[in-house]
Amino acid sequence: MLSNEYGRFIDGGRAYEITNPRTPRPWVNVVSNGRYGFVVSGNGGGFSWLDHCQLNVLTRWEMDHLRDDRGRFMYLSDLDDGSVWSVAPHPCRVQHDSFRCIHRAGSTTFQSSCMEILAVWELGVAAAENAELWEVALTNQSDRQRRLRLGAFFQWCCGTAPDVKREFHRLFFTTRHDEKRRAIIATKNMWEAPFGTPDDHWNRPWPHVAGFAMSAGDGDTIWATSDTEAFLGRDGDQARPAGMVKGCSPVFGRFGDACAALCADVVLEPGQTIKRSFVLAVADDDAGLLDLLDRYNTTQAIEAALEETASEWRARLAPTRVTTSASDFDLLNNHWLPYQAISARLWGRTGYYQQSGAYGFRDQLQDSQIWLHREPGRCRDQILLHAAHQFVDGSVYHWWNPLTETGLHDQCSDDYLWLPFVVSSYIRETGDTAILDEQVRFVDTETPAPLAEHCRRSIARSLSRRSKRGLPLIGDNDWNDGLSAVGHGDKGESVWVAFFLMTILEDFTRALEAHGDTSSSAQYVAEREALRIAVNQHAWDGDWFRRATDRDGRWLGSRESVEGKIFLNTQTWAIFAAAGDESRLLTAWESAKERLFTPYGPLLLAPAYTVPDPKIGYLSRYAPGSRENGGVYMHAATWALKAACLRRDVEAVAAIWKSISPPTRAADADAYAAEPYVLPGNVDGPLSTQPGRAGWTWYTGSAAWLNFISLEWVVGARADWDALRIDPCPLPELGMVEVVRQWRGREIVIRFDAAAYDAGAECIVELNGAIVPEQRITEAMLAPGVLSEVSVRWVRRESPIPRVLLKSRQGSET
Ligand code: GLC
Repeated sequence: MLSNEYGRFIDGGRAYEITNPRTPRPWVNVVSNGRYGFVVSGNGGGFSWLDHCQLNVLTRWEMDHLRDDRGRFMYLSDLDDGSVWSVAPHPCRVQHDSFRCIHRAGSTTFQSSCMEILAVWELGVAAAENAELWEVALTNQSDRQRRLRLGAFFQWCCGTAPDVKREFHRLFFTTRHDEKRRAIIATKNMWEAPFGTPDDHWNRPWPHVAGFAMSAGDGDTIWATSDTEAFLGRDGDQARPAGMVKGCSPVFGRFGDACAALCADVVLEPGQTIKRSFVLAVADDDAGLLDLLDRYNTTQAIEAALEETASEWRARLAPTRVTTSASDFDLLNNHWLPYQAISARLWGRTGYYQQSGAYGFRDQLQDSQIWLHREPGRCRDQILLHAAHQFVDGSVYHWWNPLTETGLHDQCSDDYLWLPFVVSSYIRETGDTAILDEQVRFVDTETPAPLAEHCRRSIARSLSRRSKRGLPLIGDNDWNDGLSAVGHGDKGESVWVAFFLMTILEDFTRALEAHGDTSSSAQYVAEREALRIAVNQHAWDGDWFRRATDRDGRWLGSRESVEGKIFLNTQTWAIFAAAGDESRLLTAWESAKERLFTPYGPLLLAPAYTVPDPKIGYLSRYAPGSRENGGVYMHAATWALKAACLRRDVEAVAAIWKSISPPTRAADADAYAAEPYVLPGNVDGPLSTQPGRAGWTWYTGSAAWLNFISLEWVVGARADWDALRIDPCPLPELGMVEVVRQWRGREIVIRFDAAAYDAGAECIVELNGAIVPEQRITEAMLAPGVLSEVSVRWVRRESPIPRVLLKSRQGSET
């Protein structure tokens, strides 16, 4: 299924199997249960953490995507002939006779065969416990008895990462050996996490204790050490650790370089299979840790827990799903996009290209929309968490660290607006206006205020920060962090924020009115109109909307600009905000298509900046074509898909989907480079030496958005305040479509033939056989507990519904 020379989707698209380990980049899995998490690459690289993947890291790792040789390793050695190999490709890099690495929700499995020993190593995280669970099965495929050593190894980090100054950090560890439990226990006397109080500077213990234990068979001889040199040997050769050949001395205490190496010497008869398991756990104290080690001390306990994790993921992802003729559309929307958004973005808050651990004010709020079609209560929780990171003046932390509650409080001009934006999305989906009355405190006062007041302060702050001509000031940046110098001296303006604010003024007015509150309606309508006039008066460039002005009043995103002539976001969001008349919106859209669309996705801007511009910021300092500098920035590219649906431009819907879908793009895996199963943060643009090459996978806000837009706009099962509006704009390749959508406690099945979609025809929606007015299904139409069946078709009337298709290049308002 959707295979390339390195791997393929298996298990109906739920899992990805790497068959050739020499992938162009590490192809990883980000596994998390909300607190405990780990990343593992197809090579075996990666690391583990609790709560925060930078401040509270359990195992050492250093970012080096080319070598990818830092991680947790499972070795085997043949005690008769001295050969040593690893179950995953790294660190030994021997040629396995057969190899598979299977990534799926909640776990990764390596299966390799070498020296006539078949080894299967599964790594997962317990569903609701701070424990990482490994099971290893070894089968003797030879016809002779084998004496083997199975050895697991990693280095402790126990604190902030990366701890590159290792000679300093090693002085603070304490390790001990619990022989009865076959466990190595570690803690660290010092924690560098920045709490921001004067007493804290390197003067605080790591507040946990971690342990790594192994289940053994009766005859096993166990070797354990917690000193890296005692295991690897004096030359530190990860590919041939001395301990795997000669055994290792049991070094524990305070004077080693803290690692966990646990080996078992085992005997396998011909054809025999044995299983051993390992648990890596962390707790606040010894009692908590020993309890975890004791509960996961058998292979049966580990197997049961891994199965529980797998079934939790199945249950979590199942409620909303699509079945179409396009397998990439289905496997992305049913499994991988929600998994990426939940496991990596909301829970792990990490990828392999970026480790964060912090909450970005705007980032995880947007991501939390992934819950709207599944468990909307979790979106509610995320909203309230972010609201509590707002200051009384309406400003917010750009990002904050959950463990230390420290963060960056800056003058970004869009962060705080995502609060009313996502609150509106949440109410539009659920009807739960009571959230507006939730009392939430501000960072800088104990006195709480209703969530509605938090949102009002966001909007008021944005409205108060405008230039003389009424355009929002960009401040330190807007959605595009890289525009970091544009607003220097509180001078530059952001046209994108104007469009963004316009959508919020409309939507949040609806949300308040749904709650019976019309007190802001007149003001918000008037402000929206003022913004509409300002953008049309000042920001229309003739063929598209400009992007911003810098401190000198120079336009970015104008035909007059030397580089960065046109930006995607101001075209797509002008469409979302219905900010211009039809001719301008059409012209802006056509310009975006003509100048920004590529076979590998819509570019964020064009042409890329080739000369760093100190009045623009770090965006212009990236290599041309990379990240936000004129590459495909996937987060923004997903908005182009929504714009195409709004424009009823089904050809563009199809073109965008095909140009960004990783399973499709990764058919040429060497050119695409990144994982075929998750979205990349960016794809190199035309000025790169490798246009179309993807990177920065997993840690990208595009996953939640692509799933949300696919469901709400492409297959068109869209929450619309007091109704579910059925309004597809599907690419024809979807063929016969079936969507199962949860909405307000009801389950609805929607069916249609995507190939029959006709933008010029009337869309007829039938619920249980009866035509639904305006395609809007209301709660009253749906009997609770009964599966509701909806069908959609398109019918041409005698006189077709007129569409304005005239293209104006003159920029007239008519
Ligand atoms: C990064 C940031 C995100 C921002 C985007 C565009 O992904 O995390 O907040 O919107 O870049 O600059």
